[in-house]
Amino acid sequence: MDVVIREIQAQDKPQWRILWNGYNQFYESKVSDSVTDKTWLRMLNVQSSINGRVAVVNDEVVGFAHIVLHEGTWELSTLCYLEDLFVAPEMRGHGIARQLIQSLIDEGKTQGWSRLYWHTRENNPARKLYDQFADVEDFVLYRMNL
Ligand SMILES: CC(C)(COP(=O)(O)OP(=O)(O)OC[C@H]1O[C@@H](n2cnc3c(N)ncnc32)[C@H](O)[C@@H]1OP(=O)(O)O)[C@@H](O)C(=O)NCCC(=O)NCCS
Repeated sequence: MDVVIREIQAQDKPQWRILWNGYNQFYESKVSDSVTDKTWLRMLNVQSSINGRVAVVNDEVVGFAHIVLHEGTWELSTLCYLEDLFVAPEMRGHGIARQLIQSLIDEGKTQGWSRLYWHTRENNPARKLYDQFADVEDFVLYRMNL
């Protein structure tokens, strides 16, 4: 299967939106249209720290990785937080998520990022994939919605 990983582009919006809805369903969450619209605009805005990468097969956008590039207190160079990762259900098991992650690793090495990191639920079966890339740390997440 020929998979192209590239930066998200304006014309991806209809296909991205379907995947984004699927991602929200997976997390049993409902992100408001105003947040979704803003997230989309931020990804297209080169001034924003939010970026998107998509996986394309036969001209169809079948997966995405959303990242946030930011500074940190422990590093001189950019850190990359992988906030969202999703592959269309019918396209799973073909290594597409693996390629999305690998493309971030490759980009980060080229760009001089100091770290790529992400969170997941303890019981997410995707950990089988993540364990092939990185060691898991023993930090736990505290979160307050303000
Ligand atoms: C997680 C997800 C992105 C994986 O996409 P994918 O393209 O199917 O993953 P890959 O084909 O690259 O997976 C590669 C390996 O990980 C394993 N794997 C990945 N996701 C898995 C899952 N959900 N269940 C079981 N195994 C999984 C595959 O079996 C494969 O292992 P192998 O190479 O040893 O055979 C996809 O299942 C998805 O979108 N899930 C719902 C959203 C989600 O969980 N996102 C991550 C939130 S942190």
